[in-house]
Amino acid sequence: MCGIVGYIGHREAWPVITKGLHRLEYRGYDSAGIALLNGDLKTYKKAGKVSDLEDFALNLDKSGTIGMGHTRWATHGEPCDRNSHPHPSGNGKLSIIHNGIIENYAVLKEALQAKGHTFISDTDTEVLVHLIEEIQERDQLELAEAVRVALTKVIGAYAIVVMSKEEPEQLVAARKGSPMVIGVGEGEYFIASDASPIVEYTKNVIYLKDNQIATLRTDNLVVRSIDNIIQTPSVQELSLKLEMLEKGGFDHFMLKEIYEQARSIKDCMRGRIYPGEGKVQLGGIKDYTEKLKNAERIVIVACGTSWHAGLVGEYLIEEYARIPVEVEYASEFRYRNPIISEKDIVIAISQSGETADTMAAIELAKERGATIFGICNVVGSSIPRITHAGVYTHAGPEIGVASTKAFTAQVTVLTLIALYVAQQKGTINQAQMVSMLTELDEIPTLVEKCLAQDAFVKEIAQKLKDSSNCLFLGRGSGFPVALEGALKLKEISYIHAEGYPAAEMKHGPIALIDEDMPVIFIATKNSSYEKVISNIQEVKARKGKVIAIVTEGDKEVKKMADYVIEIPDTNEAYLPLLATIPLQFLSYHIAVLRGCNVDQPRNLAKSVTVE
Ligand code: M6R
Repeated sequence: MCGIVGYIGHREAWPVITKGLHRLEYRGYDSAGIALLNGDLKTYKKAGKVSDLEDFALNLDKSGTIGMGHTRWATHGEPCDRNSHPHPSGNGKLSIIHNGIIENYAVLKEALQAKGHTFISDTDTEVLVHLIEEIQERDQLELAEAVRVALTKVIGAYAIVVMSKEEPEQLVAARKGSPMVIGVGEGEYFIASDASPIVEYTKNVIYLKDNQIATLRTDNLVVRSIDNIIQTPSVQELSLKLEMLEKGGFDHFMLKEIYEQARSIKDCMRGRIYPGEGKVQLGGIKDYTEKLKNAERIVIVACGTSWHAGLVGEYLIEEYARIPVEVEYASEFRYRNPIISEKDIVIAISQSGETADTMAAIELAKERGATIFGICNVVGSSIPRITHAGVYTHAGPEIGVASTKAFTAQVTVLTLIALYVAQQKGTINQAQMVSMLTELDEIPTLVEKCLAQDAFVKEIAQKLKDSSNCLFLGRGSGFPVALEGALKLKEISYIHAEGYPAAEMKHGPIALIDEDMPVIFIATKNSSYEKVISNIQEVKARKGKVIAIVTEGDKEVKKMADYVIEIPDTNEAYLPLLATIPLQFLSYHIAVLRGCNVDQPRNLAKSVTVE
């Protein structure tokens, strides 16, 4: 949440920063601001999108080769010009941008007010820049040292960049709990919340670690720990490619990412499955094979779409590896007193690898001795660094706020884990393994077939676009698919939607059914097919409108449903990988038809780094 970009070097900073902010807008987009150092410290900020800031500054002087910018997702204080970053210090000499939350800001603010500081914004960030100013003036410290001392007083999460007009040849950056990447160029440095603003200038990056403070000058970089010990950062090469960050001819990133799923699922399986040999290989967790084989329980923690993937994982792991699984909302898990011990394996699932609630759940489980695996998409993000082992999803950058290809890649990894453990434990035999892996290997081709339904699903979207509510129903692993379909619809089209296990309908939701209630059923040919047919009849008897996802060639459901969307037949285990795709299209087209901002839905941000 919140995106930050900094630049110091020989280029004009404004274009580098604005371009970077556009790339980071998925992290927050309620206001944006930039500060430039060019003799003086100039600040431009505006509520709204980065493009609003660009319009505002169109005819203003934007020269300077040192600067920093911010795109905000509001936590403390409403989105408005005044609360936008960068924030100046009281004496106007310093400026700060910040991603995260300063938890003890109220105490710090009171102490600073007692010393005569006055504040113009409602943000926690402004408190921090005043604190740096106070320490710098009191102890006559250089900027980097004042930042370091100030951070020792701070409780919370942050990635910050600070500039001073009295020390104009540097940017000081620090992180704890919020991501920060430094790009190392020739006589220039970049700094950003992720590598997307950096990749077109350099492939050499340093992932700043928690409690590190970096001082960037055009010709050198010094990294210190918060305890003032010099650190030797390691430079890594980015595998990210520029075209991965562009829409590639699609109207929206979400649509591009839906279409990428045949490729992303294939990438996720590459080098991990050997159908002919009936073998799964997962290098990232192989050192924990014995632990997995002997696990008495697996606990999955995640949020949002990743939590839905976890529910699919529960079906798969219990069915094939025969290990009991519990799936927990990370945000709930951490605020109770969960029973977790060194005997447990905890799997944390997160596309971004930065979700604050998931990170906090991991820390709690770790304190209690559990072994933690991560299933993450963003390479080098925070979660893979705090887990014992893990498996990357390799879906490529997901920029649309609504998660699509990350979900199917997470489900693919969970499938691989289930089959890997099943193989190790012998809970499925070799012939079954060969057959299951052969079918899994075909999934990308079947996904292509689901993608070919785009235009047809758009026609159905036309009929549903004015609905106020929608119900999504499924059974077995079709239930998490229903939940995911409902989440997609509500987050991008603002239509109220609920996902339920189909059999639960009669325990309450059935009261909602009338001619205005579209009900989307996951009604593929699987073990609960007959039961789902009964549920469809119950809805039709009450004049509900039925849209059903069915298996190719289905005749029964077609007789009852208003619309059917066919998906190819496959092993029941892989149903979520296919059935999710028409639901992604459905919510996408409904949202577009309603004129919603699909890639940047209101109030949301891609990576939720606040608790
Ligand atoms: O990055 P994560 O997977 O940890 O994010 C979890 C949720 O915030 C995320 O899935 C969210 O629900 C998406 N907007 C859903 O489309």
